[in-house]
Amino acid sequence: MGNLEVNVLRQVFKGKKVLVTGDTGFKGSWLCLWLHELGAEVLGFALPPVNSDDHFNLLGLRSMIRHVDGDISDLAKVRRAVDDFKPEILFHLAAQAIVRVSYQDPKTTFDTNVGGTVNVLEAVRHCGSLKAIVDITSDKCYFNNEWLWGYRESDTLGGHDPYSASKAAAELVVAAYRDSFFQARRNIGVASARAGNVIGGGDWAKDRIIPDCIRSLKGQAPIVIRNPQSTRPWQHVLEPLSGYLTLAVRLLEDPVKFAGAYNFGPAAGSIRTVKDVVDGVVAAWGSGSINVCPEPNAPHEAGLLHLNCDKAYQVLGWSSRWDADQTIRETVAWYKEMLNGRAVLSLSREQINRYMGA
Ligand SMILES: NC(=O)c1ccc[n+]([C@@H]2O[C@H](COP(=O)([O-])OP(=O)(O)OC[C@H]3O[C@@H](n4cnc5c(N)ncnc54)[C@H](O)[C@@H]3O)[C@@H](O)[C@H]2O)c1
Repeated sequence: MGNLEVNVLRQVFKGKKVLVTGDTGFKGSWLCLWLHELGAEVLGFALPPVNSDDHFNLLGLRSMIRHVDGDISDLAKVRRAVDDFKPEILFHLAAQAIVRVSYQDPKTTFDTNVGGTVNVLEAVRHCGSLKAIVDITSDKCYFNNEWLWGYRESDTLGGHDPYSASKAAAELVVAAYRDSFFQARRNIGVASARAGNVIGGGDWAKDRIIPDCIRSLKGQAPIVIRNPQSTRPWQHVLEPLSGYLTLAVRLLEDPVKFAGAYNFGPAAGSIRTVKDVVDGVVAAWGSGSINVCPEPNAPHEAGLLHLNCDKAYQVLGWSSRWDADQTIRETVAWYKEMLNGRAVLSLSREQINRYMGA
């Protein structure tokens, strides 16, 4: 079983009603564009985009898909959106997604990431049209042993910081809803997806490595890094998204067999430290300098974090397509072209097509 061909994705998603929570965010906006390219009918549900240059705005997604501005803490509003739209597939991505913010505002992080997941599952629990649920959690849902080996789906969940703990808790919520309510229906597949650190064009979040680099390079200031030796499963945004799409296709094929949790990460040879990634960005940009500034009092963040993706490969037939060098090249090229005035819709479309043809 190899990666799904584009014609298979088109066949499956063409005309399907797909609900995407978090469509105004970095990953959600790319996913909605991709689904739109595949011919799906998409409804997004999320807080409004924050900045004028958010990918959602630059793409003009509001005119390409249906979108409801809403808070997933508002169960009645989520329910109304589900009841009106009658989705066949749900991708739940809406979350407070930044570790540092979770230290500043743990309550909102838990409310959104755990309570919000409960609300979304509660809203779709009685939805007769729904056939597949893909819930996006994180590689940070594992209890971190700071060991060299990749985490497997059967490893212990945990989380030192509120964000990681909220994602571990969201995993438990999804498993409980699957076991208690959806499994008995047998015609609805429920899975969770645990992906690594994602990079790519269109992300402007604070405290994320690529947006921080691009802001510094644009302003001709040195790039400041806190933890140069930390490793993360860096991958291009299209990698986990292709995993989520594959997962949905498999759940539609067999909702019982493919239910469960899946890791989506880079190949072992593509694991890089923060410093490696930033060096790569500077090289691809063509200029720039780096200032390593350890923060002794910084809140705790995991140092070593790798994923074992054997299950996604063996069971779903999914594997990573772009190595670390291509990931960095594609990412920096996106920002350079965007900052040079290139229309973002054609730029992002082109990357999706290049990825699908790879
Ligand atoms: N970016 C990464 O490296 C990464 C890695 C692993 C997992 N994830 C997960 O992937 C998902 C998407 O991440 P992202 O990078 O696109 O994040 P993002 O911050 O760019 O987007 C988050 C989205 O969630 C929405 N949202 C937040 N709070 C909400 C609320 N109360 N009600 C409704 N919508 C709300 C935002 O409006 C936005 O659309 C998240 O679940 C995140 O935890 C991201």
